[in-house]
Amino acid sequence: MSNCVSWLDNAVFYEIYPQSFNDTNADGIGDINGITEKLDYIKELGCNAIWINPCFKSPFGDAGYDVEDYYTVAPRYGTNEDLANLFKKAHKRDMHVILDLVPGHTSVNHEWFRQSMKSERNEFTDRYVWTDSIWEEPQGMGCIRGISERDGSCAVNFFSHQPALNYGFYKPDPDKKWQQPMDAPGPMATREAMKDVMRFWLGMGCDGFRVDMAGSLVKHDEDSKGTIALWQDVRKFLDAEFPNAAMVSEWGEPDKSLIGGFHMDFLLHFGPSHYNDLFRCDEPYFSKRGKGSAKEFIAAYKANYAKTDGKGLICIPSGNHDMGRLSVCLDTDEMKVAFAFLLSMPGAPFIYYGDEIGMRYVEGLASVEGGYGRTGSRSPMQWDKSVNAGFSTAPKDKLYIKQDESPDRPDAESQSADESSLRSEIKRLIALRMSKPALQSKGRIEFVSDGYPLVYKRTAGEQTVTAVINPSAEKAVVNGIGGKIIYTTGGNAEIKDGTLYADGCTAVFVE
Ligand code: NOJ
Ligand code: CA
Repeated sequence: MSNCVSWLDNAVFYEIYPQSFNDTNADGIGDINGITEKLDYIKELGCNAIWINPCFKSPFGDAGYDVEDYYTVAPRYGTNEDLANLFKKAHKRDMHVILDLVPGHTSVNHEWFRQSMKSERNEFTDRYVWTDSIWEEPQGMGCIRGISERDGSCAVNFFSHQPALNYGFYKPDPDKKWQQPMDAPGPMATREAMKDVMRFWLGMGCDGFRVDMAGSLVKHDEDSKGTIALWQDVRKFLDAEFPNAAMVSEWGEPDKSLIGGFHMDFLLHFGPSHYNDLFRCDEPYFSKRGKGSAKEFIAAYKANYAKTDGKGLICIPSGNHDMGRLSVCLDTDEMKVAFAFLLSMPGAPFIYYGDEIGMRYVEGLASVEGGYGRTGSRSPMQWDKSVNAGFSTAPKDKLYIKQDESPDRPDAESQSADESSLRSEIKRLIALRMSKPALQSKGRIEFVSDGYPLVYKRTAGEQTVTAVINPSAEKAVVNGIGGKIIYTTGGNAEIKDGTLYADGCTAVFVE
């Protein structure tokens, strides 16, 4: 692999939504010290890397993806010193921490945007994508209009309160002078400013970034050539100054992102990945009903794998803060099989906080901080059976988001003590992965069957581990399997004369 950060080879990530993880000062909102306090919990599960969603100063119109100051931890989460301390404590435990870098847009409160709204030219006039007249809208991008002293409309990148930073246009329209080329001074200054942000946190001890909407930076860039070139330039800077920094993109097109110099790209619930076919649809592949299909997912995966071979990694998360919880369509036994798959695929796996205990999507919530339908997947972690499930000692009505109130809500403490729980299964699956290089990030994959069961071989050097993933309630019979069963999730399995017989809703690993 040309560009690789060696710690990614056996990394298993845990995604933390900071506001909902662990509150140490009783204000109802999770904080950085709360994460530090739970490092041992994460490590005990087997995860050795953490991704923290944006934790910077923000008006929280999009839960922190609207950054007001890239250099300062949001006071509600603590201080920069707290974050530096988290890095230190994580490193002591051989864990790595990546932050969320949001390079595509800021909050309207950001000082850069305030300056760029002024009519008099200044250092930040070209920091964002502005048209020359309030009456002209940047086509196809949505915009902010009518709040600036400056004449013009400002393009937005996501919600209408997130102005788009200006990295230039790949093919600027010559009749529209406001569409600046990528190498114009304004776009180049934005790029350098983002490198400075990275420098700051990497210098403080962070181990890399998950990059928000990494493919969105250069405008009018149909094939992403401009955005790829931009990230290649960032890669040069990282190679020179922070060669161990891991770069993980929210892009969903690994053939582009990895060429851009990212080490790893997510396959997600959007785009052509067919990720939802597996976990989140009417008939998910991982349901016991056995009526789903993994075929299109596997076809898309194989195509991506072939295109990116040797260039970097593809990762598949259990979920994240943008989609319904894994437990919405799958029960505990089904989730165990789904995790056997997620934890035995190439690329570093990502476990969304609470998915390890099968936390539920909380129905019927009003939107919190731009969460809308995503709010129910962002509820406070359930640690134990104490008040507020151990998340916070604040009064219940002060909690950031309402918790799952069902009497049988899962919690980490109970599941840690129960060998048959989802969390215990996940812990054993991670331990299996850690003990077998073939199952780790760079082990090769070859698919043998894409129906029920799903069969694939993972190889590293002399070691080959075959995974037989059988979500359906029907027994599976697989011919041509040699070797020894090294792991099963629950059900029985045996190999007789080169044929493997496995119970329904069971995953089996053979070496
Ligand atoms: C993707 C993030 O995951 C999502 O939560 C956010 O709303 C958008 N990008 C905008 O930054
Ligand atoms: Ca707090």
